[in-house]
Amino acid sequence: MLYNNLNNTIKTLEEHQNKLEEVIKNEVEKRIYQEKILLQQSKFATMGEMLDVIAHQWKQPINGLYLRLELLKMETEDKNLLEHIDEMQKQLDQMVETMNEFRSFFRDKEKKEFYIGDVVENVLHLMKDEIMKNKIEIVKNIESNFKIYGYPNEFKHLIISIITNSRDAFIERNINDRKIIITATEDKDFYYLKISDNAGGIPENIIDNIFELNVTTKEGGTGVGLYIASAIARKNGGELIAQNNKEGAEFIFKKRKE
Ligand SMILES: Nc1ncnc2c1ncn2[C@@H]1O[C@H](COP(=O)(O)OP(=O)(O)OP(=O)(O)O)[C@@H](O)[C@H]1O
Ligand SMILES: [Mg+2]
Repeated sequence: MLYNNLNNTIKTLEEHQNKLEEVIKNEVEKRIYQEKILLQQSKFATMGEMLDVIAHQWKQPINGLYLRLELLKMETEDKNLLEHIDEMQKQLDQMVETMNEFRSFFRDKEKKEFYIGDVVENVLHLMKDEIMKNKIEIVKNIESNFKIYGYPNEFKHLIISIITNSRDAFIERNINDRKIIITATEDKDFYYLKISDNAGGIPENIIDNIFELNVTTKEGGTGVGLYIASAIARKNGGELIAQNNKEGAEFIFKKRKE
């Protein structure tokens, strides 16, 4: 009798201990995840400041170069030389443009709450012509009230990058029945936004570093699209995952529930 009681007590204690371990494990995982995001956010802020400084420092020399090229233009009638000068000015414009794009991306804009479903709707509207022109069927299935406290405009860029890549793959591989499926779901701990296509999938040799800068298989591609998309995912408190399924590529934005 006493032995039985003791046994039962030990069992209950063990159960409690297991539960406690589970709770601690979950809590620690959550902390690590949040710390990573905080670190990322402070990195972004620093990068934004650095870019502002560089942009400020470069403004004068770039203007100076531009002006000198303008003067050079006046001193020559050589067509060849004039073409080179035009090209140089174009390159300078591009430098300024890139700098500004990145600056506005890293600049802290106002954070607000938004629904993933709304942003998907916005993007599909923005890309309506492109989607129609390329005969892409969009299947949308937003089952979750996936809500984010973050940057809705930037988040649009994430979705645009992914859909644009699908479009490129459809064209490059001459796919006939083109389909993009967009679903929003959730489970106990996470929200998921999944965008998949049937364009044959991401080449195996780049799938592991697809989110790195300059990784591209396209002629004239810059390999910036998914680099920025994954940075946007982190800035909005989640992560972006790339994988292949039987028919094509799938990109998943995954965010832990608060
Ligand atoms: N849906 C997809 N199907 C097949 N391959 C893909 C898909 N999405 C991305 N990729 C591969 O990943 C590479 C990197 O994509 P990313 O958007 O970063 O750069 P890019 O499209 O090549 O150039 P950029 O977006 O800068 O114009 C692509 O070149 C392509 O090989
Ligand atoms: Mg791209």
